[in-house]
Amino acid sequence: MKLWESVEAEYRERTPTSKEMYHETRDHVPMGVASSYRAWDPHPLIIDRAQGAYLYDVDGNSYVDFDMNNGAGMSGHAHPAVTEVVTEQLRNGTLFTHPHELLSEAAAELKKRWDAIDKVRFTNSGTESTMHAIRIARAYSGKDKLLKIEGAYHGCHDYVLMSKSAPGRLSGHPERPSRVVESHGVPEKTAETVEIAPWNDLEAVEGILRENINEIGALIVEPIVMNTGMLQPYGDFLKGLRELCDEYRITYIFDEVKTGVKIAPGGAAEYYDVEPDLVTMAKSIGGNFPVGAIGGKEEVMAQIEHGAAHYGTYNGNPLVLQALVTQLREVLTEDAYEHVDALGQRMVQGYEDIMEDQGIDGHVEHVNSQGSILFTDERIENYRDWLDNIDYDLHENFWFSMVNQGIMPHPHSADQQWTISVQHTEEHIDETLEAFKHVAPRLAEEQQS
Ligand SMILES: Cc1ncc(COP(=O)(O)O)c(C=O)c1O
Repeated sequence: MKLWESVEAEYRERTPTSKEMYHETRDHVPMGVASSYRAWDPHPLIIDRAQGAYLYDVDGNSYVDFDMNNGAGMSGHAHPAVTEVVTEQLRNGTLFTHPHELLSEAAAELKKRWDAIDKVRFTNSGTESTMHAIRIARAYSGKDKLLKIEGAYHGCHDYVLMSKSAPGRLSGHPERPSRVVESHGVPEKTAETVEIAPWNDLEAVEGILRENINEIGALIVEPIVMNTGMLQPYGDFLKGLRELCDEYRITYIFDEVKTGVKIAPGGAAEYYDVEPDLVTMAKSIGGNFPVGAIGGKEEVMAQIEHGAAHYGTYNGNPLVLQALVTQLREVLTEDAYEHVDALGQRMVQGYEDIMEDQGIDGHVEHVNSQGSILFTDERIENYRDWLDNIDYDLHENFWFSMVNQGIMPHPHSADQQWTISVQHTEEHIDETLEAFKHVAPRLAEEQQS
């Protein structure tokens, strides 16, 4: 039997209630999920509860969870300190559409971590953060076009739903990538305000800037392209972009929704020692609560005072800001970073040793708490390398085989990465590696067949 047939059969056997509930949900909810990425074949797991390092599904299976809510869960699930403070706030009101003390307390926590941040506005998600940041960026530079990197994801609004997972045949020349819109309903006129650049190629970026010298006013990057298997910036790429932005009068946005507070206390800006003009955040700043933020230099954020609109009923509500303040003060401490970084090393070493022992072509891309397993020996520097080299089928076999062993190795997609939370332990890492040891020989056979 081909590997996939047995892996899928085992998954179905373990998860009949998930299947049934998923099909019922589809009668009421498009695709049966609340965010379209969450639907997969044969059916997603229906989750009953999540605690500490574990997810529990409705069939009674437990999973050591390294998906961690697509990276929002560096605290682990239901962290006691966050739960306590939020429970207390529930009794004192969850939403004030008036200013309150937590606004400056929460902003101060982010300012401590980012030199690039003088002022902060809060949002409810990463999508909102990038949408508003792009507007502020354009207002500051006075130019309308956005430059976006091929393979990067910045949420689900019209200006960024393009050239994330475009097929090669539509993607154009690697140095002048075509703009490929990846959602119906995005107006062509809106899409035309976005240009696409390759990652890790400063010369190509400069060429595109020169061709659009009076139009491009904002550059948005994931400082590590965390939505294409952790494409790291090589050499001085991020600093080079800083220089280009200064030279061409462009507002430089670091989308730190996935890197912020996770790869270092002050995110990628600290890790790579680069000062962007604006930083967008969400996910792990909030201890699994829905909060986002935009931070930036005084003169850039002043655009909000000079007419760049930023409104929102739920912005900066006390419930999520309590979670944020506790997460940044009490959960993501210096010791916590040491803990997750050490576990990250252990995981990488373990995965790579097992792949080598079994003769699997593969390696891990990794920065501290974040890691992505890539089934190729090639170095992957940009989206085109990714397209040419990644074996999606083998990844499906890997992911479901691990899930069948009670390990959720990362979100369900080859282009995603694990998050090690403060509630993971060495035992969780070792259990994961034991499961991989069990799965690896069959993957090796499949890869070599
Ligand atoms: C880098 C990046 N930016 C923005 C977003 C959008 O965040 P949200 O899902 O909170 O809207 C994501 C989500 O995965 C992301 O990875």
